[in-house]
Amino acid sequence: MRDGTKATRFISLKHTTNVEDVRAIATRRLPMAVKDFIEGGAEDEITLRRNREDFQALSFAPKILSSTEERDQSTTLMGTPVSSPLVLAPVGLAALAHPEGERAAAIAAANRGLISTLSASSCWDLEEVAAAVPDAPRWFQLYVWRDRGITREVVERARAAGYRVLALTADVQVAARRERDLRNGFEIPPRPTLRQGTDVVRHARWFSRMAWDEVFGHGLRMGNFVKKSRIGTRISMMQQVNTLFDPQLRWEDLEWFKELWGGPVLVKGITTSADAAEAVRRGADGIWVSNHGGRQLDGLPSTISVLPEIVDAVGDRADVILDSGVRRGSDVVKALALGATAAVIGRPYVYGLAAGGQAGVERVIDLLKAEIDATLALIGAASIHDLDRSFLRSPTVAWETVART
Ligand code: FNR
Repeated sequence: MRDGTKATRFISLKHTTNVEDVRAIATRRLPMAVKDFIEGGAEDEITLRRNREDFQALSFAPKILSSTEERDQSTTLMGTPVSSPLVLAPVGLAALAHPEGERAAAIAAANRGLISTLSASSCWDLEEVAAAVPDAPRWFQLYVWRDRGITREVVERARAAGYRVLALTADVQVAARRERDLRNGFEIPPRPTLRQGTDVVRHARWFSRMAWDEVFGHGLRMGNFVKKSRIGTRISMMQQVNTLFDPQLRWEDLEWFKELWGGPVLVKGITTSADAAEAVRRGADGIWVSNHGGRQLDGLPSTISVLPEIVDAVGDRADVILDSGVRRGSDVVKALALGATAAVIGRPYVYGLAAGGQAGVERVIDLLKAEIDATLALIGAASIHDLDRSFLRSPTVAWETVART
């Protein structure tokens, strides 16, 4: 998963030059089981790898001698002006990376003029996050519980707390087999086991910070549902998903959620043009192309490879955004050139959280924005709104050109 230049082993946040550098700090700080929970994918991690490989396989077709002194990456996303076509993805249990977790991420996004999405499985309550950034544009991601009463209540709380868009995650019918977590016996909340032995010693700072936070601070809990569920007790991630989440979510439910929410709804987890078209037909306001960062169904294609067909199927009826594997500003530019309105990052900002809390997330955003700007200049685009497929040369196209000559 390494990109670009080799990261210095003991670099400080201030000296990081790319997301990979921030990742190097993060993975040094986190205990193995937590690092694996964040980094890992399902089963053979084929989709996880494809997400990176396919971004890297795409080449640019620049337009030289047409660059401008200033480049513009501001845009409007689901009706909200943003400083850059970047969104923070919903990441459950983000407080594992840093006690300030989702709250710090939301503040960082707001400070940088971006939208953050709060996970239904967040550690900080949706009201706590809203209170930290009351005026900032925030989205709320929903996992649908078997108990529709609880689900309805959470949706109503999110609406009352001022979240603007509801993102319905549709690719967690059951817990995927994330084998790293299975091997590590990963549980919520995590507990040091004898098997982890030296890992606990090596990451004493993380364990003591978590223990301190548990006693004197916010503590690790599922903020949005905890009062209504038995998540308070120690439980594996798979048990939690398989006992509480509704495996029978249907297209008809989308209409129910739209009515309940009364605002824009995104469907997250779409990887085919057929599902994208159906979502739009059923009233979705946006399509969130995602394979959950390779964490759910292994064997899915990369999101960047299916983006063009989805954009073509949706046309201008809905915004199309994409996540899974975005690690560089150039990846964002590639996604936009293929028709996405914005790119979404998950793990990159979690690395930022682990490396330096709010400042770490801000650093990741700044690095990606700088890379987007440089890429725009180098391909000869004055604005992200100028981007289209003519700025890209896919490997197939290149091969066809060779074959014809
Ligand atoms: C996630 N993701 C996720 N998605 C979601 O809809 N609700 C959630 O609670 C979570 N939780 C979560 C935890 C962790 C640790 C990770 C890494 C991811 C998926 C996330 O929203 C997004 O789809 C992916 O992270 C995007 O891929 P990258 O950017 O991580 O490659």
